[in-house]
Amino acid sequence: MPTRKKFEVSAEDLHIILAKLEQLHHVRDLNTLLDALLTESRHMAHADAGSIFLAEGEFLKFSYVQNDTLFRNDFLSNKYIYSNQTVSIDLTSLAGYVAKTGESLLIDDAYAIDSQKPYTFNATFDDISQYRTTSMLIVPLTTSKNERLGVLELINRINDQGEAIPFSEYEKNLVALFAFYASVAIERALLLRNVVHKMLKMTQIRDPEETQPHVERVGAYAVEIYQRWAERHKVPHDEIVTFRDVLSTAAMLHDIGKVGIADRILQKNGPLSEEEYEQMKWHVIYGAEFFRNPHSEWDSLAYEITLNHHEKWDGTGYPGIGRNDPLTIDNRAGKKGNSIPLSARIVALADVYDALISKRPYKDPWEEDRVLHHIRGQAGKHFDPEIVEIFFEIYDIIRAIRSKWEK
Ligand code: C2E
Ligand code: SIN
Ligand code: SIN
Ligand code: SIN
Ligand code: FE
Ligand code: FE
Repeated sequence: MPTRKKFEVSAEDLHIILAKLEQLHHVRDLNTLLDALLTESRHMAHADAGSIFLAEGEFLKFSYVQNDTLFRNDFLSNKYIYSNQTVSIDLTSLAGYVAKTGESLLIDDAYAIDSQKPYTFNATFDDISQYRTTSMLIVPLTTSKNERLGVLELINRINDQGEAIPFSEYEKNLVALFAFYASVAIERALLLRNVVHKMLKMTQIRDPEETQPHVERVGAYAVEIYQRWAERHKVPHDEIVTFRDVLSTAAMLHDIGKVGIADRILQKNGPLSEEEYEQMKWHVIYGAEFFRNPHSEWDSLAYEITLNHHEKWDGTGYPGIGRNDPLTIDNRAGKKGNSIPLSARIVALADVYDALISKRPYKDPWEEDRVLHHIRGQAGKHFDPEIVEIFFEIYDIIRAIRSKWEK
């Protein structure tokens, strides 16, 4: 008698899985990785939609969603990623059941689940979005030590006629096997995120306003602005994925150089004197010092951003030097226009938006209208006009990010 179900997967599919995993293992940023994992799993199982929940304590946090019917052309960028929905890890919900028991579930019709089952389908998302969930395939994501990471949920297996039909047992095995191996990459992405959070803690201990929510927001705004910029400029898909991957983390570290600034300046409750402001400007140099000898694309981008995020489009920013110059401040020679790296042009806007809309020790939050008016007025002066245009195009996403990390 068989005691344990074996995964029966064809040699051909196994080959495909190995090739996909090889790609996944180059990705370090968590969101990029979740996006790739979901794309590949949906493809294998012909699913119209899917989402990923990550475990945090006794809850599952809705972390990623894709849906070809609802947002067909919206690769990665959508405001649903930034929703704060959570699900308890218990037997009453589908995702909770899978996380709790470690079993995969195949549901043929979400609206006709046997009432004897401990779980029920939560139709909230369908109700909000006017989407109709029918078939579902839900698999656990666990670490190699069998600790729970989260849940991968695929929705509506689509046939050649475009109808939603049940997922097969075979597709369940295929996706479960893929998810099992992909978990290693997720674990590693979580580890890198943890290291970056620890680096950021160094500044946060000294500068209480440089909070985790602030850096999360700046990282997320930057990635979404880049996404739209890259689509406009017809950047190849793979390149977009790679750049997003490094940009999100590097943008979060833009002010890491504030660790080098004296407390009396960093924590000052009012306006800086001219001399103090000159001292403060050195945070871009101290930040760049961290990443001066690049070991990876990630270091190079962090260097660009830390050094150049206070440059201005019209050339009136600081520090006005390049990689081959001695690292110092040249108040006469700000970089100008496109000679400021794209990454820094994006982070400049993301950072100022967040500084203005938030409270700082030295200023109250501005009204949203005032902030937007200011940003519009600085197109072509402080900011790259195209980046300003994109910012307004995606402003609903910017808002969704702000409300996710409100504080
Ligand atoms: P931060 O607080 O992250 O601010 C980032 C940028 O947002 C600033 O860069 C500036 O371009 C913009 N910004 C912030 N507040 C205002 C404002 O009230 N009005 C306008 N028009 N723009 C604003 P900047 O000026 O290069 O400053 C860099 C950093 O220096 C700031 O980072 C902050 O840590 C510090 N800082 C700047 N001004 C003051 C100040 O008056 N008092 C104190 N204590 N710190 C300041
Ligand atoms: C397909 O969409 O792959 C064909 C339809 C089916 O297998 O049910
Ligand atoms: C990474 O690339 O994994 C981040 C650490 C680094 O190389 O600086
Ligand atoms: C402000 O309202 O003080 C600034 C508006 C702007 O700079 O355009
Ligand atoms: Fe800064
Ligand atoms: Fe900042």
